[in-house]
Amino acid sequence: LFAKRAEFMLGVVALKHLPPADRVEVSFAGRSNVGKSSLLNALVGQNGLARTSNTPGRTQEVNFFEIGAKDEDGLYLSDLPGYGYAKVSRSLVKEWTKLLKSYLRGRPNLRRAFVLVDSRHGIKDSDREIMTMMDECAVSYQIVLTKMDKIKKAEQEKVVAKTQADVRKNVAAHPEVLLTSSTKGDGIAELRATIADMVYG
Ligand code: GTP
Ligand code: MG
Repeated sequence: LFAKRAEFMLGVVALKHLPPADRVEVSFAGRSNVGKSSLLNALVGQNGLARTSNTPGRTQEVNFFEIGAKDEDGLYLSDLPGYGYAKVSRSLVKEWTKLLKSYLRGRPNLRRAFVLVDSRHGIKDSDREIMTMMDECAVSYQIVLTKMDKIKKAEQEKVVAKTQADVRKNVAAHPEVLLTSSTKGDGIAELRATIADMVYG
């Protein structure tokens, strides 16, 4: 699926501009700088596809990518704006919460949201808020721990176990937590397989 074709499609600031809901869609959510765009690039094996940066809050729109075929055999990937960034104004946060809520409520083809969490920091309050929103909107989500290359081998299993325990009570959370590194490539094949299952499974 990912080897076939991956293209940036459009950036959306308002819901009326969403692409038609004609194929499976998965979404990447997470705090600013957690590594959403990097993970997306690792998935498709194209480094420049989604813009990455050291400046938090870089991705301001919902960016859509088309993967594979241009019909129901293909996939939409959406890269959501990062949250939890202190320097963003109140009014912008309000706008973005509104956009996100209506996106989560009104997107019938959204199969799963991947909530990315930095493996060094674990789940934060702002992640909890997003997960609660997804629970309420009945959107299934799965935690993906990022930047595992930054923690020691001995820590890795513990972080996964702790994160799994942390989301056990969230109704819409997938019980399995994935551990990834976009720079080293760990966990990328598993994530690809998980997504491909949703399209072909
Ligand atoms: P926003 O769009 O601002 O919300 O950020 P983002 O979540 O898209 O993060 P992005 O992919 O731009 O990555 C942020 C920083 O983390 C960049 O400097 C990346 O190079 C770095 N980074 C991302 N993934 C990894 C990883 O797996 N390992 C390491 N060591 N660094 C990573
Ligand atoms: Mg980004």
